[in-house]
Amino acid sequence: MKICVIGAGYVGLTCVACLAEIGHQIVCIEKDEKKLNNLKKGIVSIFEPNMEELILKNKSKITFSSEIKDGLIDSNICYIAVGTPTLENGEVDTNAIFEVANEIAKNIKNYTIIINKSTVPIGFNKKITNFMKERTKTPFDIVSNPEFLRQGSAINDFLNPERLIIGTSSKKALEEVLKLYKPLNLNDNQILTMDENSAEMVKYAANSFLALKISYINEIAKLCEKTGANIEHIKLGLSKDSRIGEKFLNAGIGFGGSCFPKDTKAIVNIAKEKGIELETIKSAIEINENQIEYFFQKIMRFYKNNIKNKTFAILGLAFKPNTNDLREAPSLKLIKKLESNGAKIKAYDPKAKIENHQVESVKEAINEANALVITTEWQEFKELPLETLLKLKDKAIFDGRNIFINKNLNEYGLQYFCIGKNE
Ligand SMILES: NC(=O)c1ccc[n+]([C@@H]2O[C@H](COP(=O)([O-])OP(=O)(O)OC[C@H]3O[C@@H](n4cnc5c(N)ncnc54)[C@H](O)[C@@H]3O)[C@@H](O)[C@H]2O)c1
Repeated sequence: MKICVIGAGYVGLTCVACLAEIGHQIVCIEKDEKKLNNLKKGIVSIFEPNMEELILKNKSKITFSSEIKDGLIDSNICYIAVGTPTLENGEVDTNAIFEVANEIAKNIKNYTIIINKSTVPIGFNKKITNFMKERTKTPFDIVSNPEFLRQGSAINDFLNPERLIIGTSSKKALEEVLKLYKPLNLNDNQILTMDENSAEMVKYAANSFLALKISYINEIAKLCEKTGANIEHIKLGLSKDSRIGEKFLNAGIGFGGSCFPKDTKAIVNIAKEKGIELETIKSAIEINENQIEYFFQKIMRFYKNNIKNKTFAILGLAFKPNTNDLREAPSLKLIKKLESNGAKIKAYDPKAKIENHQVESVKEAINEANALVITTEWQEFKELPLETLLKLKDKAIFDGRNIFINKNLNEYGLQYFCIGKNE
């Protein structure tokens, strides 16, 4: 099939790479000139395992353009994957979608199925349908097909989804979408069809639930510190209970990224407008927002509230491993706090880049540093040898991701602090 994908971000480029891989022809539309020019040259600025490889492998099936009309020339399927950030007041900024929908309406010539991957407030796909109907006489259907990929394993998640949510009231659109995804070989109970509003709600409900799990385990971790329990044992004990599951039970400095912080705020706001207070989700947000300060205070206590001119090696900038995404990254918030208290920073991340303080290797970060702070659990950090850690001037490690929690580093002359074991 010939498919237009609008937006070459984390979600859009994953769609491009995977839809081409399963045999479709793609025109990808991106309005950011720099990104677009790079993509035309085969440079993918997003780091995601296998993404660049798949795009290069399928380059004969993919073209890039800035013009939506180029993508609609002979395609009757159009994906929307543009950003929907949450504003300060909790409202979702859907302007990019209105802009795109306006262009699509101006340019469609035949029946077109618009598949919306962007996360939008409940009722939005119906709203945008009416918006387009006022602008075109050409028939079209909008299908809500929320995306559940995890950054860091996006390609695999798209090609092997646990479930596919298809929200539409059009039988014709549903049939076409099912054909489109046929090469994924999903079984019937992985394909969930429903109305548009429910599909939109599933996305917010799923992200909020995962955020709840993280804030929950972080609360329990605090209690572990006060009671002499060890969060690692609690995690194991919980995860063997299939009603709870083993995922998202890692205590640490909390969630970041472009989805959980924004989607939790959005659903709270959506509910508020309907007169409902989502108390659990509000608490999850609050706990998460306080988590960095909680961790920062461990550092301050160790240094008796004076970190002036102390040098901290920060390992990990990206909000999670296997991505270069810095949106809402806890590392950046922590660096800000350390710096505003007079500390010096040497930060290293295998893929994410910041303007100041960045060094090129773990070795360089640790060299002459007083203490080590772990903010992202990249595999290479987990494998650091003891000799490297012992080079720290103050022999202090603040592990915001509990990667060394089982290593008994105190026995080797290090002062080890994590989340959920000892104080
Ligand atoms: N990142 C994730 O893990 C993830 C997972 C599931 C769902 N989502 C949702 O998917 C959507 C996209 O997220 P993302 O992380 O890919 O965002 P992103 O910011 O990485 O990408 C959006 C891209 O769209 C482009 N764009 C904006 N307006 C455009 C226009 N008019 N024409 C062409 N291109 C345009 C932007 O320049 C940008 O490159 C959001 O609604 C998000 O909530 C994201």
